[in-house]
This record gives sequence, C-alpha cells and structure tokens, in this order.
Amino acid sequence: MLSNKVSKALNTQIELEASSSQYYLAMASWAETQGLNGISQFLYGHADEERMHMLKLIKFVNERGGHGQVPALKQPPVTFKSVKSVFEEILKHEIKVTNEINNLVEITLKEKDYTTHNFLQWYVSEQIEEEALARQIVDKLKLIGDDRGGLYFFDRDLENLAAVDKAPAEKGK
Ligand code: FEO
Repeated sequence: MLSNKVSKALNTQIELEASSSQYYLAMASWAETQGLNGISQFLYGHADEERMHMLKLIKFVNERGGHGQVPALKQPPVTFKSVKSVFEEILKHEIKVTNEINNLVEITLKEKDYTTHNFLQWYVSEQIEEEALARQIVDKLKLIGDDRGGLYFFDRDLENLAAVDKAPAEKGK
C-alpha cells in the first residue's frame, strides 16, 4: 500500500510525463508543418514514449492501492524558433525530469517504500538514455549550424533513428 506522500509524488510525476508527451507532440506537429518529416517522426515517437511512461506510473499506483489520476494539461507552444531550439528545450526538459525522478527516489527512501524505490529504477536508467540522446542531438545540431544541406541529412538520420527507436517504445510494456 502506498503512503499518501508517495502516492501524491507519483501523481505529480504522472502529470509531468503527460505534459512531456504533449510538449513533444506539439514539437512533432510543428516540425511536420516545416517539411521536416524525419524530425517529426522522431518526435511523434518520443511523445508516445512519454505517454507510455505516464501509463506505467498510473498502472503501478493503481496496483498498489492508490489512484493514478489523469491530469489536466496546459497547452504547449504552437511554434518553435528552430530545430536546434527544439532539441535544446528537450534536453533542458529531460534534465528537469531526471531531477524530479531523483526527488521521487529520495521520498521513497525516506518513506521506506522499497517496492516503489525498486520500480523507479527503470525510470532512473531511462533518464540516463534520454538525456544522453538529447545531448548527442544538440551537439550534432551545433556542428550543422546554419547549413541547410546538413539539416537535410540530419532529418534523414532522425528518420532512421525513429524507425530503430520503435522497439524501445515497446520496452516498458
Ligand atoms: Fe519520461 Fe523523457 O521522461
């Protein structure tokens, strides 16, 4: 059985994962309108992954006698300055998510909730991967700079990555 404190903290995380999904979905839709099909496919996939992160939390909370609540969400931005700014935002956002997961882990230790602590280890590893990928992409975009040809190839690269990434989207199920 979850303590009130852990249950509340997990529900806050549910909201963060849901808003991450909406945020990346808005980025995907914007990229698609810019003709950046590879980037948009990658971002649509990323939005799906965040939804899966949310769902996994909802199910866990319910299994442990709590109630995973579906949150109301603020509308994310509609347009974005550039592809580089999109991925810089993703990196910033993922660092924030990592910090929140770490806070959650700390709460479970204080509450001596070792089951939830164990469950959260999946998120701890996932955040290492997500941050590393976002950092790698931002570094690539820095190299490309204003080169339109470079952006064209980057878009194709992300299309391939989105195809390979379909498997990880399934991995938490
Ligand atoms: Fe679910 Fe990207 O954090």
